[in-house]
Amino acid sequence: MFPNERPRRLRQSANLRRLVQETRLSADALIYPVFVRPGTNRQDPIHSMPGIYQWSVDRLVEHLTEVYQAGVRAFLLFGIPQHKDSVGSEAYDPNGIVQVALRQLRESLPDAILIADLCLCEYTDHGHCGILEGERVANDPTLDLLARAAVEQARAGATIVAPSDMMDGRVQAIRSALDAAGYSEVPIMSYAAKYASGFYGPFREAAENTPAFGDRRAYQMDPANRREAMREVLLDLEEGADMLIVKPAMPYLDILSDVRGRVSVPVAAYQVSGEFAMIEAAARNGWLERERVIMESLTSIARAGADMIITYWAPEAAGWLQG
Ligand code: PBG
Repeated sequence: MFPNERPRRLRQSANLRRLVQETRLSADALIYPVFVRPGTNRQDPIHSMPGIYQWSVDRLVEHLTEVYQAGVRAFLLFGIPQHKDSVGSEAYDPNGIVQVALRQLRESLPDAILIADLCLCEYTDHGHCGILEGERVANDPTLDLLARAAVEQARAGATIVAPSDMMDGRVQAIRSALDAAGYSEVPIMSYAAKYASGFYGPFREAAENTPAFGDRRAYQMDPANRREAMREVLLDLEEGADMLIVKPAMPYLDILSDVRGRVSVPVAAYQVSGEFAMIEAAARNGWLERERVIMESLTSIARAGADMIITYWAPEAAGWLQG
């Protein structure tokens, strides 16, 4: 009888659809990015990211304790330092803001996965991801500072370090420094394919890291390039990356799918601040169904190949997945 093939047969009921579902989200795969700032009892709103805050360490510990209990076990830490200078000193100061937060969190949540974002841009007064020679970000001198920061993060209790600076050779420099300091067990989750994206806009308010001049196109990738992502990924693997990140996520699903098809290490996708802000803004206007679209966005990222998703909606999504 015509037609022979009827795909709709498997869509007849909610239970049948659930049975044949190809992509299943789990709270286990979610990573929640957070911003930590100096002071006590601070929960400062970020205007372009409704529901996201800069937390002082005391309040961050309380917040993440709740989020952990709600089922999110992995956190990505960004710091807003007390002092910025030309060489980003607080990034590798043992008493820098992220190191202080790591020590407290490690004590309060011993089993949590604490991922330390590793970059200088939040810590430099010029806002670039490396140190400057004139107006140029100097690659090799920056590597030493990143390596020092990685060691301090590991010492303070980071489970994983995640370099996001896009300097050439940084994975190898960080690996050697970690090994030499006795942290050969600390994995490197490298932002291997990180694009120079306008979707980072709201993050610049959140992390206070807007470049004082110019932009990041001389170190982050050109959004037009697809093959080059594979070059970056393979280099990072050769240098010793244990896990990779593709960033941003939704506008770069082709990249994510390519990477997933080519490597065997775990791959994360970073659903960045602009992706978050777009959906939040549309939902506030009543133009999109908020929960439905958030879950669809996460599903599309997982379907394209992400084993892990870094998302500001991690706590809420975990609640929906378990509820
Ligand atoms: C820089 C960094 C950025 C983000 C994470 N790490 C911004 C940038 O490169 O300018 C963006 C994350 C987001 O937009 O959510 N170290």
